[in-house]
Amino acid sequence: MFQNSLEYAKKQDADDALAAFRNKFHIPKDATGKELIYLCGNSLGLQPKITSEYIKEELADWANLGVEGHVEGKHPWLPYHEFLTENMAKIVGAKPSEVVVMNTLTTNLHLMMVSFYQPTKTKYKIVVESDAFPSDKYTVESQLKFHGIDPKDGLILWKPRKGEELCRFEDLEEIMKTHGNEIALLMIGSTNYYTGQSFPLKKITELGHKYNCMVGFDLAHGAGNIQPNLHETGADFAVWCTYKYLNSGPGSLGGCFVHERHANNENLNRFAGWWGHNKKTRFNMRHEFDALPGAEGWQLSNPPILSMAAIRASLDTFAEAGFENLRKKSEKLTGYLEFLLDEMKNDAINVITPRNPEERGCQLSIQVKNADKSLHTKLTEAGVISDWREPDVIRVAPAPLYNSFEDVFHFSEKLKKVLK
Ligand SMILES: Cc1ncc(COP(=O)(O)O)c(C=O)c1O
Repeated sequence: MFQNSLEYAKKQDADDALAAFRNKFHIPKDATGKELIYLCGNSLGLQPKITSEYIKEELADWANLGVEGHVEGKHPWLPYHEFLTENMAKIVGAKPSEVVVMNTLTTNLHLMMVSFYQPTKTKYKIVVESDAFPSDKYTVESQLKFHGIDPKDGLILWKPRKGEELCRFEDLEEIMKTHGNEIALLMIGSTNYYTGQSFPLKKITELGHKYNCMVGFDLAHGAGNIQPNLHETGADFAVWCTYKYLNSGPGSLGGCFVHERHANNENLNRFAGWWGHNKKTRFNMRHEFDALPGAEGWQLSNPPILSMAAIRASLDTFAEAGFENLRKKSEKLTGYLEFLLDEMKNDAINVITPRNPEERGCQLSIQVKNADKSLHTKLTEAGVISDWREPDVIRVAPAPLYNSFEDVFHFSEKLKKVLK
């Protein structure tokens, strides 16, 4: 159904009800002022034009009100995180009480593991996918060591089979059959950063729970990209960042999900801070810690409002576009990219991301023969912003909020040229 022509790409953009959203973003330009082909929203999402207004509003409240901004501000800082909750909950398919924006991803993962990784002498192992993002692996290994467990014994890797790139669910089933009684936690990236493979979150959760394991997901590459339907999966917890597909700026705060069945569970360990304390008595001080119910109860500190303002701007943009519409466009846009790559019929490149749209988000991972990194360098020189991940992959992610079919077409033309 796709066609390999600029006219076709332009027609798709003309017919795209979301096309106007591109103008709501700052698109990076080259030295001559020409827009670059930005396909790197999987690493750092672009800046919505409204973000500076949202941040300026908070700066003005701070300038004009000082400390009174906590209660007198247009968006008072005291409950500021609550202004993000509903829209964020929709993006990850959760109930508002299950979601909170706080800290950053790796910090949240540690906090969640304090609560949901409670090893015993016999049930203490953790399963991660074999090529998990390094920070996830470091988190898991250091948590094992913190409990006196050697990662060589405590860590089980869910690996692709020899000669394959993707993890098979049936192999995870095998791991559970063999080691289920020893496993305490499954900690899986919802969408793998390297291959772009999205895992079946509900099936993984059901499998883990069948063996009495806790199940958590890292949605760094899922949030704002796929719909993880977190509540329905039944996962115990999830964490994500907001600087990739959620366009909230470098190093911005992360999101955290705790399933509602844990909302009032006092048996869970928890590292506590005053922002997780009962709002009614938080400022009475000198009280015993009284955790807020739900995900909010895991907050530690009063949050950085300027970063939250950027998240609010981004979430308002998502809400205006509608996540379902975005996902629909994303499937088509990535399908178009896949079609154009297939058309090249060039064995110097090989897409390792799953073919099935339900098993991926917008990213395609292009494996380069002989790990020839110069291909990525040449693409960059030609005005394409993508990224290279060792050992041999160029990641390309057309984001439906600001990328166009024309972007995808021009990318493929440039790739064709550099492959020659
Ligand atoms: C899958 C995954 N996990 C963890 C991280 C680390 O995130 P942070 O630096 O926000 O802790 C990243 C960062 O890109 C990531 O992609």
